Amino acid sequence: MQPRDRLVVALDVSTRNDVLRLLDQLHDAAGVFKIGLQAFTALGPSIVREVVARGERVFLDLKIHDIPNTASHAIHEVASLGASMTTVHASGGESMLRACAHDSVLVLGVTVLTSLDDASLQSVGFTDNAIDTAARLARLAQASGLRGVVASPHEIAAIREACGSDFVILTPGIRPSGADAGDQRRTMTPREAISAGADYIVVGRPITNAANPRSAALRVIDDMSSRA
Ligand code: C5P
Repeated sequence: MQPRDRLVVALDVSTRNDVLRLLDQLHDAAGVFKIGLQAFTALGPSIVREVVARGERVFLDLKIHDIPNTASHAIHEVASLGASMTTVHASGGESMLRACAHDSVLVLGVTVLTSLDDASLQSVGFTDNAIDTAARLARLAQASGLRGVVASPHEIAAIREACGSDFVILTPGIRPSGADAGDQRRTMTPREAISAGADYIVVGRPITNAANPRSAALRVIDDMSSRA
């Protein structure tokens, strides 16, 4: 994969105009566009079809967590929209994960949300720390037929060791050096995340809120390319 193919830009906006403006600015400066709960709830499935029709790869980040039958039908609908990637919560359990493993879309298991620290994990009943929990959930996702996971950059090494080099790891929580961290906690730069073993990095506001989103995306790609 070229560095550009590894960059996933999060289109966390609520209007069709904002989606199309960002696509115009970024169409050859990112490999994948992420449509998450904000844009999907505001704009519906038609926005996915429209971005796919422009020839872009779409990551439809729905973080599905439901009974196996419902989850599996939702994944089929995601595939029929033409999305290339989507997400389910690995904590949904083996039966749900097996029902969601699908060939025509890359289904990634969400391990531990980057917004949860060790104390919040304990308060919802997890006894291990974030790194061990993420590695355990990644192993469960792999054993249940998924080809990859979403994890914080700080969990990449443990997941690589647990799941091997072919397992896909996509990581948010990326901040170019000097960028505002916003509500992200334990961040890494693009180069650090790729060096740590990420296949894809997700970058949202540092690109979409920049005065010139295209230049900001090209800087992220440059930073990834400059790894030793
Ligand atoms: O704007 P920012 O770069 O923080 O955007 C990161 C994107 O990655 C957002 O769409 C957010 O929902 C998503 N994400 C995350 N942490 C997770 C899972 C998804 O930041 N654990």
